Amino acid sequence: MYFSEEIIAEVQQRNDIVDVISQYVHLQKKGSNYMACCPFHSEKTPSFSVSRSRQLYKCFGCGEGGSVITFLQKYENYSFPEAIKVLAERAGVTLPQEELSEAAKKKESRRARLLEVNKAAAGYYFYLLRSEKGKVAASYLDKRGLSEETKHRFGLGYASAYGNDLIMYLKQKNFTDEEITASGLAGFSEQKGLNSKFWNRVMFPIQDTNHRVIGFGGRVMGEGEPKYLNSPETEIFDKSRNLYGLNFARTSKKDNIILCEGYMDVISLHQAGFDQAVASLGTAFTSGQANLLRRYTKDVCLAYDSDGAGVKAALRAIEILRQTGLGAKVINMEPYKDPDEFIKNLGTEAFQERIDNAENSFLFQVRMLQRNYKLEDPESKTRFFREVASLLCGFEDELERENYIQAVASQYAIASSQLKELVVKQALGQGGVRVAERPQKTTADHAKKDHVKHMQQLLLTYFADNPQLYTKVKRFISASDFTDETYGFVAQRFFEDLEKGEANPVKLINLFEDPAEQSEVSALFTTYLSDLEEGKEAKNKAFRDILLAVKKNSFAFYSEKSGTDIAALTKVIEGKKALEELEKTHIFVD
Ligand code: GTP
Ligand code: MN
Repeated sequence: MYFSEEIIAEVQQRNDIVDVISQYVHLQKKGSNYMACCPFHSEKTPSFSVSRSRQLYKCFGCGEGGSVITFLQKYENYSFPEAIKVLAERAGVTLPQEELSEAAKKKESRRARLLEVNKAAAGYYFYLLRSEKGKVAASYLDKRGLSEETKHRFGLGYASAYGNDLIMYLKQKNFTDEEITASGLAGFSEQKGLNSKFWNRVMFPIQDTNHRVIGFGGRVMGEGEPKYLNSPETEIFDKSRNLYGLNFARTSKKDNIILCEGYMDVISLHQAGFDQAVASLGTAFTSGQANLLRRYTKDVCLAYDSDGAGVKAALRAIEILRQTGLGAKVINMEPYKDPDEFIKNLGTEAFQERIDNAENSFLFQVRMLQRNYKLEDPESKTRFFREVASLLCGFEDELERENYIQAVASQYAIASSQLKELVVKQALGQGGVRVAERPQKTTADHAKKDHVKHMQQLLLTYFADNPQLYTKVKRFISASDFTDETYGFVAQRFFEDLEKGEANPVKLINLFEDPAEQSEVSALFTTYLSDLEEGKEAKNKAFRDILLAVKKNSFAFYSEKSGTDIAALTKVIEGKKALEELEKTHIFVD
């Protein structure tokens, strides 16, 4: 969705930030600002401040900050367009209809149609569960301990055992045979015509993050094969980019996400108050899903089955989460099989304790590795420690590696000096390449990349808050110093606007269509600036450090490329000059 600059400005003007945030947080007037306890981190004394004159909010505790739009994006986890739509509605601003190409319009109406089929089917299954025919299913779900409220919340239903009643119902609603098959709810054969996919099953509608039904999982009641039958992938159902329960978990106020294996696990956890639980869709966890989660959390707690298959799946998920830059911990489910059974037997508090004591994912990996060796056998033990040492080589950061060496050493009764020696030997033996291929490297890489991006964000935020500063330092900096592709693009436009004296970050956000990118760009201009930095000198130094960090990164970036790229070499030479000059220059922020 593309919104014009004028529309965004109007939406923002008509939604006073103090009024909007008051709907979520209890604000108290203090001087010219409004203060509250921060909704984004837990605290006892207020450090969350909202300014009516600047139309901005900022938390001096955790650093969150931004506009009325970013507030809704963060608090409600809305995408940029979603936040605009909600605010427009709130203030009675009419948004222009989207201008789409013919092909895009067709695709959109096709998708809308398939969503309609799914919605109608979900409604029908829902009705059936509460009818005479659905008694078996209702009593099955009762036996599994689900309350009325839970069944309602997850829209659970029942696919009947007799006749093609769903198909008749859908046809009556004027859906075509083609639409019904394309939605995955029925197959087609010459002899029989349309034939329902789901028979005599309890139905779990699968919803996207906007609560729209995109597919179904159906469970047999009792024994039977297959235990779960899932809708096939369709034009609206991509199993690798959706997660069961995320429509609710996305607005959870918990600071982690619990990733489990089954629909029933998610439902039980939500019923017990763990509204941050999600599950993959009858397939293995994917990097697409990890990326999706990254929009909502930094920490994922795995609550996989405690059996062999569950452990294997957890180990794979850990790798994927790590590559995405997400922290992973593993919840111990013993002596039960899965979260559903655990909660039924030991209850909510016990599960919360397991979350609090979830195991570091590296130590989990080591513990699972250990199961393949016999520590009482010296030879097996030696091989185990060699293997562990080679895993430890993956940590690039010395302190981090050291800490892990200590932790493993104390857990497996080996002197840490000895383990360290093994690590060094492994590192030398393997040569640089294999060490570099270790998965942990990606974590370190991510951290470094995040730091660089953060510095670039800070610099742009400084310029947005204080355009004169740009004029003061523009001879040192150019858009190409923003080595992240999106940031570089934004910086280019922003600098052009600054030159014209009409910088407006909101306008730049509008250059992007992808909601994730829009959120990222809005973060670019609302990164927390340390207002606590006391004194002019400290402020000057803070800014200078950021500028230097961005410059040094860009220098390193182009130096690496300059072997093959003439343009990069030019940048290196320019960068070197700018850096030298910058080292000698004193910059005054105010
Ligand atoms: P309950 O037995 O109802 O408690 O299920 P569970 O949540 O414990 O399920 P289980 O651990 O057996 O499976 C986890 C998930 O894998 C399910 O939610 C389904 O998405 C999927 N799954 C399980 N069995 C099958 C199957 O036979 N076929 C397919 N395609 N998926 C399955
Ligand atoms: Mn189960």
